[in-house]
Amino acid sequence: MSTAIPATLIPGDGIGPEIVDATLAVFDALGARFEWDRQVAGLEGVRQAGDPVPRAVLDSIRRTRLALKGPLETPSGGGYRSANVRLREEFKLYANLRPARTLVPGGRFDNIDLVVVRENLEGLYIGHEHYVQIDDDPHAVAMATGINTRAGSRRLLEFAFEHAVATGRKKVTIVHKANIMKALTGIFLETGLDLYERKYKGRFVLDTVIVDACAMKLVLNPGQFDVLVTTNLFGDILSDLVAGLVGGLGMAPGANIGADAAIFEAVHGSAPDIAGKGIANPTALLLAAAMMLEHCRLPDLAKRLRTALDQTLNLDKVRTGDLGGTANTRAFTQALVSRIANG
Ligand code: NAI
Repeated sequence: MSTAIPATLIPGDGIGPEIVDATLAVFDALGARFEWDRQVAGLEGVRQAGDPVPRAVLDSIRRTRLALKGPLETPSGGGYRSANVRLREEFKLYANLRPARTLVPGGRFDNIDLVVVRENLEGLYIGHEHYVQIDDDPHAVAMATGINTRAGSRRLLEFAFEHAVATGRKKVTIVHKANIMKALTGIFLETGLDLYERKYKGRFVLDTVIVDACAMKLVLNPGQFDVLVTTNLFGDILSDLVAGLVGGLGMAPGANIGADAAIFEAVHGSAPDIAGKGIANPTALLLAAAMMLEHCRLPDLAKRLRTALDQTLNLDKVRTGDLGGTANTRAFTQALVSRIANG
C-alpha cells in the first residue's frame, strides 16, 4: 500500500476508544495506511462541541467519504436524537450490511454464514413521533409514522441483490410483515418481487418470510438462510438476533454504505457497563475494519486480518471474557498483532 487513504476516525463513547485503539494497533501491524482525521460525536460530541453531530465531523466525512466509528451513546426516551441515525441520513447511507459468520465454533450452531441487509433510512426510524395530550396527561397517546418509498426500497433491494450476486450467495430472503402492515412493508415486498422477476431471476433463489416466523426459524435452523433483506426496524432486531447465534454482539460488524460515503462500525453499542475496564472484545470493530479494507480495495489485508483473528481465537485460544476467555482487550490485541507479524 503506497499512499495513505484519508479517513475519518470517530473513537465514540463508552468502550469506543478502547476498541478503536486496538483496531489502530492492528492496522499498524498490517501496514494499512490511513490518514486519520479524528473527530468526536455522540455523548463526547455533546461534551466537547455541544452537539452529538458537530459540524466538524460532517465536514470531515464529506471530505474523506470514509469513516471508522466507535459506538455513539443515545439517551433512551428524551434527550438528543441518535447521532448514528443523523449520520446515516446526512450521507444517505441507505444500506446497512451486517454479516454474521461463526468465528468461534462450539456454540449452539457451527458454520453460520449469513448476511443481513437492512434498509437504513426509512421505515419507523424517520423520527416522526409525537404525543397527544388528554386531560392533564401530556403523554396520554404516543404516535409514530413510518415511511417506506418505492425508490428507497428498490435502491436497497438492488444493493442486496447485487451483493448476493457479487459474493456468490445462493438465496435471498425478503423479510416483511405485509400481512399486517400491508402498505408499509407491503411496498418493500412487492418491489423486491418485481425487481427479482425483471432483473435477477435465475441468478439466486428468492424467498419471502414474515418477520415473526423468520425470528423463530433463525433460532431453530439458521442454515436455511443465506442473505436476509429487510426494512429498518426488522433489520435492526434480526441482526442482533443473528449476532447472538455467532457468539454475541462482540462478534458482529456493520457497514453503512451510501451514495455519498461509507461508515464502518461494530453492531454493538457503547457498553457502559464495562466501559473503562479494558475488557471489551474488539473483534466486532476489527471485522468492520476488514470490511473497510475490502471497501478500499485492499482484500489481501482484509484476508490477513481475518486469518489472524481466527488463529488468535481458535489456535492460540486467546479470548475476551464475553467469549468465556480471560484476556483483556490489550492482551487480545497483542496476541493478534503477534499473529499478524508472524503470519
Ligand atoms: P450495548 O451493545 O452497548 O451492550 C449490550 C451488552 O453487550 C452489554 O452487556 C455489553 O457489556 C455487551 N457488549 C457490547 N459490546 C461488547 C464488546 N465489544 N465486548 C464485550 N461485551 C460487549 O447495548 P446497550 O447497553 O443497549 O446500549 C448502550 C448505548 O449504546 C446506548 O446509548 C445505545 O443507544 C448505544 N448504541 C450505539 C450503537 C452504535 O453506535 N452503532 C448501536 C447500539 C447501541
